[in-house]
Order: sequence, then C-alpha cells, then structure tokens
Amino acid sequence: MVTCTVIHPNTGIGFELAAQLLAKGNYHVLLACRSPDKGYAALQRLQSRDLPGTVCFTHLDVTDDASIHAAASQVEKDYGRLDVLVNNAAIGRAQEDDLRKKMRECFDTNATGPAILGYAFEELLRKSDYPLKRIVNVSSGAGSIGRMFDPNRKAVTHYGRTIHYQASKAALSMVTAQQALDFAPHGVKVLCWNPGFTVSELGPFNKVEHGAKPTEEAVRPLVEIIEGGRDGEAGVFLSEDGKSYPW
Ligand SMILES: NC(=O)c1ccc[n+]([C@@H]2O[C@H](COP(=O)([O-])OP(=O)(O)OC[C@H]3O[C@@H](n4cnc5c(N)ncnc54)[C@H](OP(=O)(O)O)[C@@H]3O)[C@@H](O)[C@H]2O)c1
Repeated sequence: MVTCTVIHPNTGIGFELAAQLLAKGNYHVLLACRSPDKGYAALQRLQSRDLPGTVCFTHLDVTDDASIHAAASQVEKDYGRLDVLVNNAAIGRAQEDDLRKKMRECFDTNATGPAILGYAFEELLRKSDYPLKRIVNVSSGAGSIGRMFDPNRKAVTHYGRTIHYQASKAALSMVTAQQALDFAPHGVKVLCWNPGFTVSELGPFNKVEHGAKPTEEAVRPLVEIIEGGRDGEAGVFLSEDGKSYPW
C-alpha cells in the first residue's frame, strides 16, 4: 500500500482526490483535516462508496504547529514512513477586511503551512522506499507572476482584489522550489500544480454556472502527477492542461 496524506480532503479537490486514489486499490489515504466533524463525515462518505483502498482520519490544522507535529508523530508510530504528501488546503477569501490581516491569514494557510508540513514530514518521506515518493503542492495560476504580464491573460475580476491569495500562492512556488532542492538528496520530488477553475467551496464563484469544471475532471491530472506521469518536467509549475505556467 502507498501511504498518502491528503491535507484537507473534506471538500472540493481534496475529497475527490481521496476518492480517486482509493478507487485504485493500492493507496492507504490519511485524511488530514482541521475539523474532526468534517473529517469523520468525509471518512464516512468515502467508506460508504466501498472503494478498494483503505482510509483513515487524522487531525491536522496547517496553521497550528502542534497539530502538524502531532500528525507527523502519529504517522511515524503507525507506518514508520510516508510515501506521498499532498498539500491541498488553502483559503481564497480571508475573513478579515484589513489587508495586513488578510495577507497574514492567507500566507499562514497557503504558504507557511505547506513549508512547515514539508519539513515536519521530511524524515518520514526520507524513510520511504517507494520509488515515486513526493510532495505535491496544490497551487493556483493566480500565483504565477509571469502570467500577470501576459497580454492574453484573462484577468479574473469577479472576486475583486485578491492580492493576498495571489501573493501567498506565489510564495508557495518558492516553498516548492526550495524544498525540491532540499529533498532531492532523499529521492523525494516536490512539485507544484494548478488545478484550474473547479467546482469547490473556495469561493462563491466556484460553481458550474460560472464555468467551473467538475472535481472529477480537475483531479485526474493530479493523480497522474502523483503517479509520476509528469516527472520528465522537473522544475516547472505544472498547469491543469498538461502544460506549465511561468513561475
Ligand atoms: N477550485 C478552484 O477553482 C481552484 C483553482 C486554483 C487552485 N485551487 C487550489 O486547490 C486547492 C483546493 O481548494 P478547493 O478548490 O478544493 O477549495 P475548498 O473546497 O475550499 O477546499 C479547501 C480546503 O482547505 C481547508 N482549509 C481552509 N482554511 C484552512 C485553514 N486555516 N487551515 C487548514 N485548512 C484550511 C478547508 O477546510 P475546512 O472545510 O475545514 O474549511 C477545505 O477543506 C487549494 O489549494 C486552492 O488554492 C483551486
């Protein structure tokens, strides 16, 4: 069994990723959620599908170091290693009106959390002998600085100003690049991927009527990345359509 931790799989892309991995039969998926109620509800929904893989819940809040280290200790105790880590949690709409607070909130969840998680699980990933061991950071095209200056880019205006989200995802690119270099000696790949506009709870416009694609469609390329299908494209920001974005 490949032991895979999916961070925040209770809704949207994370939930569908857990379902698609479980359907394959060779994954043991750890649902790492901050809310035990939502986590156990997701666990029940997945178990009711009678998929061949195995699944369990672990508590983890990406903004809380104690919970990150407790989750890593639990994984160490239960499995002695980790094969795949998917950093999926993010917020698009910070609760705060004040920009400084919004920036803090988004950076804490979207960039600092994955950075701390990567290092917290580094030793467990190092211990894995799975040949495709890796971290996949789910990012966003909104964090691509190169795209900002592309005259053909369609600017997303319906959310208003989202500099807090964009800047936090740009920071996630640097977290990915630094950890890709740091973990390479352990044989651990660190990749960054944008799912594209998808139905989820991320914001009020993530709905079919606004052009968002279904999660089933969005997640298939992520499974391909987890299974090494795009390993030839080292050091790029992978996009949803099989191509890449400028960093
Ligand atoms: N959907 C899109 O169009 C789109 C496009 C580009 C990139 N993405 C990226 O895809 C990933 C998944 O997002 P999604 O679209 O599936 O959105 P989602 O349905 O809102 O899922 C995001 C998850 O992150 C968790 N989360 C929120 N705040 C958190 C915090 N402070 N600490 C820990 N976890 C927290 C949420 O848990 P709770 O339920 O407990 O709040 C939720 O399960 C994100 O990284 C997002 O940036 C999505």
